[in-house]
Amino acid sequence: MIKYGVVGTGYFGAELARYLKKNDGAEITTVYDPENAVEVAKELGARVADSLDDLVSSPEVDCVIVATPNYLHKEPVIKAAQHKKHVFCEKPIALSYEDCREMVDACKENNVTFMAGHIMNFFNGVHHAKELINNGVIGDVLYCHTARNGWEEVQPSVSWKKIREKSGGHLYHHIHELDCVQFIMGGTPETVTMTGGNVAHQGEGFGDEDDMIFVNMEFSNNRFAICEWGSAYRWGEHYVLIQGTKGAIKIDMYDCGGTLKVNGKETHFLVHETQEEDDDRTRIYHSTEMDGAIAYGKPGKRTPLWLSSVIDKEMRFLHEIMEGKTASAEFDKLLTGEAALEAIATADACTLSINEDRKVKLSEVMK
Ligand SMILES: NC(=O)c1ccc[n+]([C@@H]2O[C@H](COP(=O)([O-])OP(=O)(O)OC[C@H]3O[C@@H](n4cnc5c(N)ncnc54)[C@H](O)[C@@H]3O)[C@@H](O)[C@H]2O)c1
Repeated sequence: MIKYGVVGTGYFGAELARYLKKNDGAEITTVYDPENAVEVAKELGARVADSLDDLVSSPEVDCVIVATPNYLHKEPVIKAAQHKKHVFCEKPIALSYEDCREMVDACKENNVTFMAGHIMNFFNGVHHAKELINNGVIGDVLYCHTARNGWEEVQPSVSWKKIREKSGGHLYHHIHELDCVQFIMGGTPETVTMTGGNVAHQGEGFGDEDDMIFVNMEFSNNRFAICEWGSAYRWGEHYVLIQGTKGAIKIDMYDCGGTLKVNGKETHFLVHETQEEDDDRTRIYHSTEMDGAIAYGKPGKRTPLWLSSVIDKEMRFLHEIMEGKTASAEFDKLLTGEAALEAIATADACTLSINEDRKVKLSEVMK
């Protein structure tokens, strides 16, 4: 039996726990959340810890799931590692390279797994795209273009997810696409330039994050990426487009579906597990359920079909790792926090770029 403790049982933490618990040999023994623990604990059959220290020091916990707001990941991760507990931490693992470094080092020093919640790694479409690239189907990758855009209306109450200090804003909060690009490109860019700003969401009912972000990345060997995020776009889009010397791949999450284009011929693949899941995601994006192309969850809310299915897959993977199964090399950097650290390094370089209005070398951040 592997015993799990969950820190932060809001929207995502509760869902992670529910799907984790479905696995044979997985038990959620303990939860800690100053506001939302009681009901979730009852549902999961878990004990409510009195404090973070209580949870991380408990002999009833082998692995700690961290799903607190972004700015509150560091303490539970480091404390868990110091108590020799394995860690799964939601994205972004932290809001600065320095904090991420400390977290990754603490897990390494204590010889524990540090898996980041970079859930796109578990999309069927992302896995398929990686296979196509590895098999040389689109030749050498020259360029990636990602977009995660929509329009945000006035909010009835402003979530921590819209406050830059707490979430990091779109760039950090939606680190998924940046991580995906870096995976495809084999690591961090050499330089980045970021422009953008808060162009249309000031005042009551809005946070203070930038609502238009444009990142330009330059990789070694004349390869490039451009990533856009934001909530000031009336024309919503959400995709990862990969351009190679022989062909191209689009993983479209808005009109959900994957496309491979080689020699003018298009073939299609699923982004998620079933056509029903892809269609449901398309339906959600095209309805009024979405806010700024981002479904902001809150405690008590349940995840949509496609996301539940991928959480299920991600938690099964984590549990198998905890049971001693070895993952393919593709997941090495996901399981040490290194991929997450590299994504935040690039995000920090982007922040420096916009703050100082200049092109920034990654080596300035990754010292
Ligand atoms: N991978 C994904 O696709 C995905 C999707 C949604 C959220 N997330 C991530 O999951 C994390 C949680 O997001 P959410 O949507 O569940 O937010 P949420 O606001 O619904 O839940 C956060 C919970 O943390 C609790 N909390 C606050 N301070 C705490 C503390 N010091 N100790 C313990 N608990 C504390 C709150 O009471 C709340 O219940 C974030 O890092 C977010 O980025 C990831």
